[in-house]
Amino acid sequence: MTEISDVPASFDVELSNVGRRALVTGAAGFIGSHVCRTLVRGGWMVTGIDGFTDSYDPVEKLMRAASLARLAGMTLAVGNLADMELDSYLDGVEVLFHLAGRAGVRASFSSEELYIRDNVIATERLLGAARKAGVRRIVYASSSSVYGDGEVPFREDALLSPISPYAKSKLEAERACLDSHGRDLETTALRYFTVFGPGQRPDMGLRLFAEAALTCGVITLLGDGTQRRDFTYVTDVVGATIAAADAPVAGMAVNVGGGCAFSITEVLDILARLTGNRLRIDRQPFARGDVKTTSADLGRARRLLGFSPVVPFEVGYEREVAWLRERLEQKVGVPV
Ligand SMILES: NC(=O)c1ccc[n+]([C@@H]2O[C@H](COP(=O)([O-])OP(=O)(O)OC[C@H]3O[C@@H](n4cnc5c(N)ncnc54)[C@H](O)[C@@H]3O)[C@@H](O)[C@H]2O)c1
Repeated sequence: MTEISDVPASFDVELSNVGRRALVTGAAGFIGSHVCRTLVRGGWMVTGIDGFTDSYDPVEKLMRAASLARLAGMTLAVGNLADMELDSYLDGVEVLFHLAGRAGVRASFSSEELYIRDNVIATERLLGAARKAGVRRIVYASSSSVYGDGEVPFREDALLSPISPYAKSKLEAERACLDSHGRDLETTALRYFTVFGPGQRPDMGLRLFAEAALTCGVITLLGDGTQRRDFTYVTDVVGATIAAADAPVAGMAVNVGGGCAFSITEVLDILARLTGNRLRIDRQPFARGDVKTTSADLGRARRLLGFSPVVPFEVGYEREVAWLRERLEQKVGVPV
């Protein structure tokens, strides 16, 4: 059986973590649920908050939450950060992992106000409440999309030019976080590069491709397949996120990438090998807001976070495909 959170052995319970309290926002999301599970396994006491927003089928989020709720050391609360009462959840929290957010580039062109609510307003409220509660550090889940079509590999000190409402909202929230640093609060922003693996969001390309390939459906390819992405396996992202709670990264942004960019054409070749199926491709125009290439300069992450991606793309995609295949075979419908 494919383990949804095949966590590195180094994250087994550490005595030094026992008694530490974390709040994870977006706990029922793809990455947030992996972070919660790993923190709890590492000995932390974790409270998770999620608003079960309609960004994709909330049942998928509910299934993740149900699985988390079974863990000793895990407490879950439901609410939208943009308007819920926050103080009681922050009491005694040392580190706040802020992963709640409305993700997805394409949808952001038609519902910009929801992106402002869930990414910007939610973050600003959380920052105010965290400062008041005496939280030591906030680790914010930012995005490689803030770079836009900048020069690759992307360096953290590059000029930022986001090209979608999603990317703009992530940058605004990132700036709010980093501007708060030093004012009774430490903050850091991790710029994640296309995260994948078991449990991946249903709107993301790798999952859509794999679902179509496994059901002998037609793969919709937006653009000519030459666009490149630096894919990052989810347990690598989780490792960097938890390391950022204590590493000397306060007050700065840090890239978290897989260290190697693949074109979509290369991805589809790998997928054909992994599934043994001949893929049928329906070519459509490039999507608005999609950048041509993402590629992370990992110098800062290596130096300050001790980060080095462990899971190569093909290995990670094989695990995601195996996870999806198992779900489809069992007709579970909703993967967790
Ligand atoms: N997945 C990626 O490739 C990727 C890349 C870069 C950045 N990020 C960022 O990482 C974070 C997690 O991404 P994910 O892929 O797990 O997405 P996800 O949609 O699976 O998880 C986000 C969760 O946050 C919750 N949420 C959203 N807005 C909320 C609000 N205002 N209040 C309470 N809950 C709210 C959602 O219900 C969802 O469960 C997001 O902030 C995203 O922008 C993700």
